[in-house]
Amino acid sequence: MDDPKAAAQEHAVRRELEGYYAAGKPPWDTGVTPPELVNRVEGDGAPPPGRALELGCGTGTNAIYLARRGWDVVAVDLIDRAVRRARDKADAAGATVRLLCGDATRLDDLDVPGPYDLFFDLSCYCGIPPHRRDAYAAGLARRAAPGARLLMFGYGPEAFDDPISGVTADELRTRFADWTLTDVTPGTNDVPTAWFTLRRGRSGGAAAQTVDSR
Ligand SMILES: C[S@@+](CC[C@H](N)C(=O)[O-])C[C@H]1O[C@@H](n2cnc3c(N)ncnc32)[C@H](O)[C@@H]1O
Repeated sequence: MDDPKAAAQEHAVRRELEGYYAAGKPPWDTGVTPPELVNRVEGDGAPPPGRALELGCGTGTNAIYLARRGWDVVAVDLIDRAVRRARDKADAAGATVRLLCGDATRLDDLDVPGPYDLFFDLSCYCGIPPHRRDAYAAGLARRAAPGARLLMFGYGPEAFDDPISGVTADELRTRFADWTLTDVTPGTNDVPTAWFTLRRGRSGGAAAQTVDSR
């Protein structure tokens, strides 16, 4: 990496994440699958199980949930300690999940060719330094099956006291221009959060807004 400031940002994010996992159970590791994912997978009009890629899977709660619902799941996290815990949890649950330690913005370095029908991101993208976000979007676009969905939960920029974290609907519309942002549902947290659903068109570009916008 040529830009020392960018490299320092990535290093700082990784160190902070490693610190959370080294200290024990991070505050986000609730072990509870959010109703928004359950609705996507089991609710009215839910698609049949297909192939899923989770970005920033932590200790694997939601990857294991998807596998138990019949999905063929690959899940990636940057932090080795999180992935090891996720493997232990998957083994204990008897769930088959490919759990990989790697960077969601450098998917070409991993054996994750796809295509995937569902991408799931619970609070990973919103913490990725801005200079890596285009690479994240490109990696997903290259691996998206026709009609793929991206279900993402993110904190708004106001939720952080640093200048690089957070995500907005406007940012996603711009950065994921080949997708259609079909839903934005505010979260119930004390700080600004939202669930975003994006859909890829059947022929690779953005989906027509009027047809099956779920
Ligand atoms: C707020 S935590 C949420 C973890 C998990 N989704 C959950 O809800 O329990 C964000 C996760 O994303 C991971 N992460 C952050 N940046 C990443 C990156 N560039 N590639 C892969 N994982 C990343 C972190 O290690 C962390 O486990």
